[in-house]
Amino acid sequence: MKKVWMGSVLVLVLALVLAPTFLTAGDMPPADAAALWKYITETSPYQKWGMWPDHSGMQPGRAPHGPFHKVYVNDILLKATAAPVPFGSIEVKESYTQDQKLAAITIMYKVQGFNPSAGDWFWVKYSLDGKGDPAGKVQGCIDCHAGGAKNDYILVHTMK
Ligand code: HEC
Repeated sequence: MKKVWMGSVLVLVLALVLAPTFLTAGDMPPADAAALWKYITETSPYQKWGMWPDHSGMQPGRAPHGPFHKVYVNDILLKATAAPVPFGSIEVKESYTQDQKLAAITIMYKVQGFNPSAGDWFWVKYSLDGKGDPAGKVQGCIDCHAGGAKNDYILVHTMK
């Protein structure tokens, strides 16, 4: 009886120790607009992420993204030091109007094998209610960001 009890404790302790490892591995959403929205609003709210030190807070923007923006960067990407950046990297850009009202949210999410010929980025533009359209291998996004292909399609920060 005592042995069984000890065994259960051991299993429980192991589960607690290992759980975080499994969670971080399986934590990332698939390349899907609805799943990614849930991830950035519930699982890992993006407003708590960091920003590039050289591009933090409200920044003036260029067409087509609107007059102002803020770019939030997840931990995986913030720790990256070179292009191409690691899979799992996410950049969330809030686009603001001239009078600094939030207007749209555009995201680049790097998913292994999603689109190898263009940096494996999943592209999506969300309205404020979380509807992602367009989403996926969006040619318009890729074509313009391709100017920064050597920098892994990232335009607001230069990877070292
Ligand atoms: C005509 C050019 C153009 C198109 C099309 C375009 N972008 Fe951008 N994007 C930019 C520029 C320029 C920036 C740098 C910030 C700024 O000046 O607004 C940027 C920045 C971003 C960023 C911030 C991260 C970074 O450093 O690049 C994200 C995320 C982003 N764009 C997503 C998208 C998505 C998603 C689409 C398609 C729905 C898209 N962009 C279409 C030009 C473009």
